[in-house]
Amino acid sequence: MKRTKINVVLVLEQTPGEILIKGWVRTKRDSKEFCFMEINDGSCLKNIQVIANKDLKNYSDIKTITTGTSVAIAGQLVASPGKGQKWEIQATDIEIINIAPESYPLQKKRHSDEFLRTIAHLRPRTNKYGAAFRIRSEMVFAIHKFYREKGFRYLTAPLITGSDAEGAGEMFRVTCLDPKGSGKQGKMDFKDDFFGQESNLTVSGQLSAEMFALALGDVYTFGPTFRAENSNTSRHVAEFWMLEPEMAFCDLKENMDHGEELVKTLTRHAINECSEDMNLFTSFVDKSLPKLFDTLLNTQFGRISYTEAIDILIKSKKKFEFPVEYGTDLQSEHERYLAEVYFEKPVFLTDYPKQIKPFYMRMNDDGKTVAAMDLLVPGIGELIGGSQREERLDVLEKRMDEMNLSKKEYWWYLDSRRFGSVPHSGFGLGFERFLMMITGINNIRDVIPFPRTPGSIDF
Ligand code: 4AD
Ligand code: MG
Repeated sequence: MKRTKINVVLVLEQTPGEILIKGWVRTKRDSKEFCFMEINDGSCLKNIQVIANKDLKNYSDIKTITTGTSVAIAGQLVASPGKGQKWEIQATDIEIINIAPESYPLQKKRHSDEFLRTIAHLRPRTNKYGAAFRIRSEMVFAIHKFYREKGFRYLTAPLITGSDAEGAGEMFRVTCLDPKGSGKQGKMDFKDDFFGQESNLTVSGQLSAEMFALALGDVYTFGPTFRAENSNTSRHVAEFWMLEPEMAFCDLKENMDHGEELVKTLTRHAINECSEDMNLFTSFVDKSLPKLFDTLLNTQFGRISYTEAIDILIKSKKKFEFPVEYGTDLQSEHERYLAEVYFEKPVFLTDYPKQIKPFYMRMNDDGKTVAAMDLLVPGIGELIGGSQREERLDVLEKRMDEMNLSKKEYWWYLDSRRFGSVPHSGFGLGFERFLMMITGINNIRDVIPFPRTPGSIDF
């Protein structure tokens, strides 16, 4: 077999003639003169049908092929008389690369998401997960395309950091010290550690992004972030990808406009560029997706203040598990009520009380609320969290004092407000939550290749 392999996704663009494909057998049917095989190579949802004639020299071996067996197939690409497929391959040469034994767990039947999570190393071979991870790949590209076309610069923020951007203290420590004690006094002393101080995995690239926005204008970071939140929910993982645009000369309204445009553009990209894979989700996973897409693309997202949201929730008279009270953080059930039941569309909540938000958010004139914004979407709850940043040095320093944050440690952050400070804003979009929204997959563990959650780090 000297020809060059073609991915099945590209077969549609071929003209009849010689072809070589390599992939895995999904099913095989034998008839008297032939055997038919459905081959999938993972490049797209579609299988390609292969016809193996009994004249093939290794036909007796071909008859032993099982589901999951890997093969290389050379042959003629011809128009298929069968319905639902444009092409098929009449094999001239079939090389069996590796026979899969009967114990191969992915025999042709429906498997539950829970079961597939226990074989996360094999699940991308199924139609549903293959589709989900191809969409994930395409959406990474869509993000870079969106920002490149807007003239943003891409910043890779450090993953190991000495500062806690969110101040929520949910960080994974990075250390080379022996947990039994670092020597000197028999206890851990971070002065002896690799960096000579405590260090952690980043919870957000925002503080780095702010420094670069105040130099390059419009920037974004997109990378893994880590949170040691002990919340075992369908929306939290310990390692997730966050997209964080940061824009100089940008206020809260422009920040929301940008978030809305981003969500609309990415959704449109998924529908247009991943149509085959997306159809699997709209047909088999969540039939209400087309309605959601219509809402996402064709309505203006709602915009209300936190205070108005609290009023709506109290007046709803709905029995929530967690009580609604001004000054407390909204729970997922509250966020979903607002987006799903009350507004029936995505809604931005703005101007949260300062005590439930991080130090960097810009203080409003009332002295009580900050210029925060969260985007709540149906089915998910919070998709985006962001704010206008406090650009006034004196106000920022006062806020840091109130929150007992060390101005000495954040000297570089404060420097940015000392030299050429400007109003600027940004937000973080949870990439996995976005994928959940557009696929209807309702557990975050199923949109990330190998999820990391409390008590679970397999694969
Ligand atoms: O609201 P968050 O905590 O915002 C920040 O970290 C800001 N520094 C971002 C910024 O302004 N540049 O997180 C942003 C988003 C959330 O809205 C949510 O979608 C997602 O990140 N997220 C998680 N996704 C999965 N698992 C978790 N444990 C997540 N925590 C937050
Ligand atoms: Mg948040």
